[in-house]
Amino acid sequence: MSEDRPAAYGGTAVRSDPLGYGGQTLGEGEKTAVAETLDADYITRGPKVDEFETDVAEFLGVDHAIATTSGTTALQLAGDALGFGPGDEIITTPLTFVSTTYPACHTGATPVFADIEPETRTLDPEAVEAKITDATEAIIPMHYAGHPADIDELLAIADRHDLSVLWDACHAFGTTIDGDPVGNERDLATFSFHPVKNITMGEGGLVATDDDEIAARVRSLRSFDMNYEPDSHEDEPWYQVTEGLGYNHNVTDIQAALGCEQLARLPEFKQRRQEIMAQYDEAFADLSGLRTPVVHDDVDPMFHLYAVEIADSFGCSRKEFVNAMHAENIYVQVHYVPLHFHPFFRDEYGYERGQFPFTESVYERIVSLPLFPGMTDEDISSVVRAVERLHEYHAD
Ligand SMILES: Cc1ncc(COP(=O)(O)O)c(C=O)c1O
Repeated sequence: MSEDRPAAYGGTAVRSDPLGYGGQTLGEGEKTAVAETLDADYITRGPKVDEFETDVAEFLGVDHAIATTSGTTALQLAGDALGFGPGDEIITTPLTFVSTTYPACHTGATPVFADIEPETRTLDPEAVEAKITDATEAIIPMHYAGHPADIDELLAIADRHDLSVLWDACHAFGTTIDGDPVGNERDLATFSFHPVKNITMGEGGLVATDDDEIAARVRSLRSFDMNYEPDSHEDEPWYQVTEGLGYNHNVTDIQAALGCEQLARLPEFKQRRQEIMAQYDEAFADLSGLRTPVVHDDVDPMFHLYAVEIADSFGCSRKEFVNAMHAENIYVQVHYVPLHFHPFFRDEYGYERGQFPFTESVYERIVSLPLFPGMTDEDISSVVRAVERLHEYHAD
């Protein structure tokens, strides 16, 4: 038996301070920019939000970027803007966060799950095509962990069947394919700027599109579906009227100031995420039973998650792995409990376990190790050491 016992089996934890799987990386620039907005005229949506939207649109190469309060509200606005409603079927992945389904669920449309392609853990185009019916309106692919779904194939299917595509790109801000940023495909893409994502605004999200009509719809719905300048009331500046059922999903200049600073640091963040991944890839290359993430040749990923898979040959189950890492003060996480396991999808839409075998087999093995730019080299070493000694312990 090795002397270097994992903490879960009586050894001393590899670290005493907790390390999460993700988190924000903020500096003086962000603090100054946020403080400056507090002295400005606007603390709600104002010129900083405009600046953030312009910067993101330029970065992604889209005509319109509309900031909102979260990735979740970006998705809801997108579903409304695309006109989803009762009777519509929207095909998406069960291996995602629940918000990916909200464009369907919140409009009365039906989320229809299709299985994943296990290598990238994104929607399998063939499984999507098999689910298409006369009621299908749209596909919502999700770029799991930051690796793109099969964009070309999914667009070809959408073209063949005249479907809209709403890309849930919440994990993939900063990923490029052959140099082109993910998120500028038709019809629109949504992003999240939650603290664990690739850049943050505290809470925040964004809809990106080249479609003028969709953009106008999203902008209006974001702010009460209010017409602030209706025709024939030019000399009545107070005359502002609601044209439909909207929301208050306005993001503030305080958050946008944070967003602008973080966007400027994206190359630095991307490089650091890639360095951390390279160190993990190298350390785990010869570890039996641990599968590191796959990256396709044309993809330059900005990975939000470093999700590995723990097979039986590692020597312990995924459950034991997670709890053993937590005992080391390393708070790995599982992304995600498949949505068809959740009571809401079972009770509301009749989903059952066993329906999506690839999703379920990935779920049985998957674990996200810590990945965020603020990790130090010591943090990385502690993760590697914790994994290695757990592997050794079970090999003995
Ligand atoms: C794939 C995916 N879509 C949407 C969201 C929602 O983003 P937000 O937390 O900004 O509402 C998340 C958040 O974790 C996510 O992982």
